[in-house]
Amino acid sequence: MTDPLLSLAGVRAGYDLTEVLRGVDMTVEEGSVVSLVGRNGVGKTTTLRSIVGNVSPTAGTITFDGEDITDLPTEQTIQRGITFVPEDRRVFPGLTVRENIEMGRLGAGGETSVDEVLETFENLKERADSHGSVLSGGEQQMLAIARALVADPDLLLLDEPTEGLAPYIVRDIEDIIRELNDQGITVLLVEQNIPVALEVSEYTYILEKGRIVHEGPAASVRENTAVLDRHLGVGSVE
Ligand SMILES: Nc1ncnc2c1ncn2[C@@H]1O[C@H](COP(=O)(O)OP(=O)(O)OP(=O)(O)O)[C@@H](O)[C@H]1O
Ligand SMILES: [Mg+2]
Repeated sequence: MTDPLLSLAGVRAGYDLTEVLRGVDMTVEEGSVVSLVGRNGVGKTTTLRSIVGNVSPTAGTITFDGEDITDLPTEQTIQRGITFVPEDRRVFPGLTVRENIEMGRLGAGGETSVDEVLETFENLKERADSHGSVLSGGEQQMLAIARALVADPDLLLLDEPTEGLAPYIVRDIEDIIRELNDQGITVLLVEQNIPVALEVSEYTYILEKGRIVHEGPAASVRENTAVLDRHLGVGSVE
């Protein structure tokens, strides 16, 4: 068996006096889409921040591509191939779509061109010279993902990409995640939308109070109504 692309072992992390992660263990196999789900405030975003080096773990180990990256700062994790798309999208309103995407290359040194990235995003391609300020919520999310791709990531960390989006745009985001995965990018997806998480990913981790309390193939988690109810407060998944 080959080693996983990413693994977290006993990771503890938090902010000042608050410990948020209390020993997180998880692995992401190369070429997979893995989801991380859980109620509000359990530490999902903090987990992603720990991986990219935005938050420093106080204990435990994070390994990426066979190397210990536990204490690396963000500038170095991005160079090694990890890119984080934050929940708030951070589109620059005064820059064009093309310029926004170009910003993703800063510090990353990727070789993918903006035009290559735009091939995956039909509606952004049509608006390449429009300003960020005129984009819809769905287009902003697409732009945030497109910007991550010029960094040539091996591992893409997505924090609630479907939040606040209309159902038909949510389907577009699902399609994009699948397409990127087909292109060879491994994805770790944080989602509040449990049906989306279980639909797009092949393996799921459930986080509760800073610990993984359940994990398994998405298809089996979907059938496990007791687990869905106990840890996520949802009775069943359509
Ligand atoms: N910068 C910060 N400083 C202090 N506490 C923080 C900070 N960011 C998050 N927290 C706290 O850490 C805990 C975990 O937050 P985190 O954002 O990781 O949760 P989450 O699972 O992503 O939640 P959500 O579903 O709301 O996005 C929360 O109690 C939150 O209030
Ligand atoms: Mg969050």
